[in-house]
Amino acid sequence: MAKKVRMAVFASGSGSNFAALEAACRAGDLSAEIALLVTDQPDAYVTERAQQAGIPVAAFRPREFDTKSAYEQAVLKALQEAQVEWLLLAGYMRLIGPDLLQAYPEKIINIHPSLLPSFPGKDAIGQAVAAGVKVTGVTVHLVDEGMDTGPILAQQAVDVIDGDVEKTATAIHEVEHGLYVRTLQDVLKK
Ligand code: GAR
Repeated sequence: MAKKVRMAVFASGSGSNFAALEAACRAGDLSAEIALLVTDQPDAYVTERAQQAGIPVAAFRPREFDTKSAYEQAVLKALQEAQVEWLLLAGYMRLIGPDLLQAYPEKIINIHPSLLPSFPGKDAIGQAVAAGVKVTGVTVHLVDEGMDTGPILAQQAVDVIDGDVEKTATAIHEVEHGLYVRTLQDVLKK
C-alpha cells in the first residue's frame, strides 16, 4: 500500500472542514492522514473534534509570543516533530508568515468561501450578500504571502439564497467539504 501523506490541518473555529477532511482520510477517500491539528484558538470547537477523533492537537496562543516569527517557529517545531508534509488551512483566520512559507514551499493549501479574487478576507459570505451578487462560491488555492491570494486550484459556484447570509453559508459549507477533499486528492495524485 502507498505511504500516506502526512498533513496538518490549521483551524481557528468550528472545524466542519477539519471534520470532512478527517472523515475522508478515515474512509480512504484521501490517501493521506491528519497527523496534527494546529489551532491558534485553543478553546475553539475544532479542538474538541480533533480530540474525539484521536488526532494530536498543537494549540497556541499567538499573543503569548513576542513576534509572529517566534510564534511560527514554535508551530514549525510541532510540524517537524509530527513529520508533516502538507499544511491545509481550514478556517485558519491568520495570515501565514515567511517562516512557514519558506518551510513548506507550494505545500500550503487554503479554502475560502468566495470565488476569489472577489471577497477576500473575513466574512466573505457577508461581503457577497452585502454586494448583492447572485452567485458566489468556494475557492481552493495554494497559499502565498497575500491574504487569500495564490494560484487557484479549484472553484465551485454557489447561488446566494434569498439574500440571506445563514442560508448561503449552509450551502457554501456543504460545497466546501466535497471540493476540498476532491481537490486534495487530485493534488496528491500528481
Ligand atoms: C470556512 O467557510 C472557510 O472557507 C473559511 O472559514 C470557514 C471555516 O469553517 N475560511 C476563510 O474565510 C479564510 N479566509 P469551519 O471551521 O466549519 O471549517
